[in-house]
Amino acid sequence: MTTHKIALLAGDGIGPEIMAEAVKVLKLIEERNTVSFDLQSALFGACAWFETGKSFPDDTIAICDNADAILKGTIGLSHEESKQIPVDEQPERGGLLPMRRRYQTYANFRPVALPPELAHFSPLRPEIIGDGIDLVIIRELVGGLYFGSKETGINDQGRRYVHEMLEYDEDQIRQVLEVAFKLAMKRKKSLTNVHKSNVLKSSVLWNEILDEVHSDYPEVSVDHILVDAAATYLCLNPTRFDVMVMENMFGDILSDQCGGILGSLGLMPSACVGPEQSYYEPSHGSAPDIAGKGIANPYSMLGSVAMMLEMSFNMSAEAGNLWKAMQGVFTDGYTTPDLARRGDAEKQISTSEFGDRVVSALADLPSAC
Ligand code: IPM
Ligand code: MG
Repeated sequence: MTTHKIALLAGDGIGPEIMAEAVKVLKLIEERNTVSFDLQSALFGACAWFETGKSFPDDTIAICDNADAILKGTIGLSHEESKQIPVDEQPERGGLLPMRRRYQTYANFRPVALPPELAHFSPLRPEIIGDGIDLVIIRELVGGLYFGSKETGINDQGRRYVHEMLEYDEDQIRQVLEVAFKLAMKRKKSLTNVHKSNVLKSSVLWNEILDEVHSDYPEVSVDHILVDAAATYLCLNPTRFDVMVMENMFGDILSDQCGGILGSLGLMPSACVGPEQSYYEPSHGSAPDIAGKGIANPYSMLGSVAMMLEMSFNMSAEAGNLWKAMQGVFTDGYTTPDLARRGDAEKQISTSEFGDRVVSALADLPSAC
């Protein structure tokens, strides 16, 4: 029997509600496989700040350091509530970015999957969706503007100014491109490189390194596209993309656009992979407006569990079963109120009923081992 230690960081807002569903699923996976999970809950985010004065407290760091993988819920407060916490200590700057930095989670996988059965969630017309959307954004996650040096002050003319650097070195670029090429090799051998080399020198260097890495993967065909054009084509023809790779800020923006294309960020799980530690999280925020109501869909949280099973625990067959079970609940006509689009055509259920249905659908599938 293998035991995997998982740090559970439920976080703020809807985080605890959707994390509870992830735990239900993990319990079932333990029952039907020769695996056990040692689940260790820890404070992270605004809740941690109120309790300990830190968004990523030392006890949580110790639990995460010691875990085989980290499963994170959502963090953050409403715009108004955030003001209770000093800017640099707010959960995003004080918790999430330090976690990315600590574990150097440089490769962020954001799958964007809309099988035809879920096409009704999307604002795109059926002829654009065709046989379904299935692409993966690989976003560089520990460099660029997010982690470059920052300075604010008053300039010689007495005006307030800010200076924020977009920094990359060639190794940082190469390591994420390697991940993207490897993924392309496993999928359709097609990679879209998203850049802005007509303006940014960082993109010129990025593209130079891309050519070098490409020579190790000659079977992969590479398509280059400017980031602004990519935003347009994601709406007009998303099915032309398979694996897309880009720097941090571009990836932040385009991955949220992909959430819009799917119809909700609630359909966007993700994996943040580092050399020694990885964490898994929904791509969306803590949705304070609907927190505590039991109406948030746990799909992105459960999808993050599926990604953890596959990428950290080598359980890809069971991960595939989980995806199937999750999508099956939608196919059976159920949804949570936050995602409901079709009025009477849908049966609306709570967050926890959604999780229960995933659990029962998964229990009906043959287990992997
Ligand atoms: C994301 C989020 C984060 C980011 C925020 C919460 C700091 O938007 O993971 O996409 O900007 O990277
Ligand atoms: Mg984002």
